[in-house]
Amino acid sequence: MSRFQGRTALVTGGGSGIGLEIARRLSAEGAAVTVADLDPSAAARELGATPLELDVTDERAVSALDLAPDVLVNNAATCTDTPFPELSGEEWDADLASVLKGPFLMCRTLLPRMPAGGSVVNIGSVNAAAFFGNDAYSAAKAGLESLTRGLAVRYGPRGIRVNLVAPATIRTPIWDARLSRDPELMARLAGWYPLGRIGSPADVAAAVLFLASPEAAWITGTTLRVDGGLTAGNARLVADILTPGHLR
Ligand SMILES: NC(=O)c1ccc[n+]([C@@H]2O[C@H](COP(=O)([O-])OP(=O)(O)OC[C@H]3O[C@@H](n4cnc5c(N)ncnc54)[C@H](O)[C@@H]3O)[C@@H](O)[C@H]2O)c1
Repeated sequence: MSRFQGRTALVTGGGSGIGLEIARRLSAEGAAVTVADLDPSAAARELGATPLELDVTDERAVSALDLAPDVLVNNAATCTDTPFPELSGEEWDADLASVLKGPFLMCRTLLPRMPAGGSVVNIGSVNAAAFFGNDAYSAAKAGLESLTRGLAVRYGPRGIRVNLVAPATIRTPIWDARLSRDPELMARLAGWYPLGRIGSPADVAAAVLFLASPEAAWITGTTLRVDGGLTAGNARLVADILTPGHLR
């Protein structure tokens, strides 16, 4: 497929993990991709993407961007693992800044310049829908869903769509610290997923490209969960309520 031939795309956080895979797929389908990251060198080397060294939380730097991409993917984020009672104000602010303020700044600068037919895809998380830990990150991801709906209403009349993809566990470098403490973590987590595995960056990228493409021409303001069924229900709870054999 070459759904993005002749189109331009900007992916924040495209230097690693999910963002790198999104940039890879957009590029493979014909888009001229710019990767905005604290370190965009991997994407530039591997994909020939245009590197843009950018901190999406830096209001002055984002406001100075002179770009008008057809596709904007707000993917950059960080997440602190500090438990709630010890969470500092600085850590709270840092998660809110990368997860929520960054997309706000990017959209405020770029949306007014985007051509009709343009599309924004924000990368959220299942953490916005239910509690899975990481209080500041989760609150910020919930805020990002709200921002997505607001921007969809605001920019719909200009022919610009704004949607959000909400992944559950995806093996990327964001998990490195947790995995170094607990190497069996991913294998254990797989047991919570109705589809029997955790996700891959490719699972997320496929959903992002669909929402960014003309195939999704009448979809805006929506959240698409890419979560292997995690938020559809809780099989372990059902087994406790009824019997383990009930889920046949
Ligand atoms: N991996 C998961 O399990 C998972 C699950 C749900 C949602 N997500 C979301 O997917 C997105 C990508 O996560 P990932 O797992 O690929 O993480 P990652 O750590 O592999 O990649 C994140 C990238 O964002 C960049 N980045 C961080 N802060 C930035 C800033 N202020 N300005 C510019 N670039 C910045 C980093 O340099 C890095 O290249 C995030 O929004 C994350 O919240 C991930």
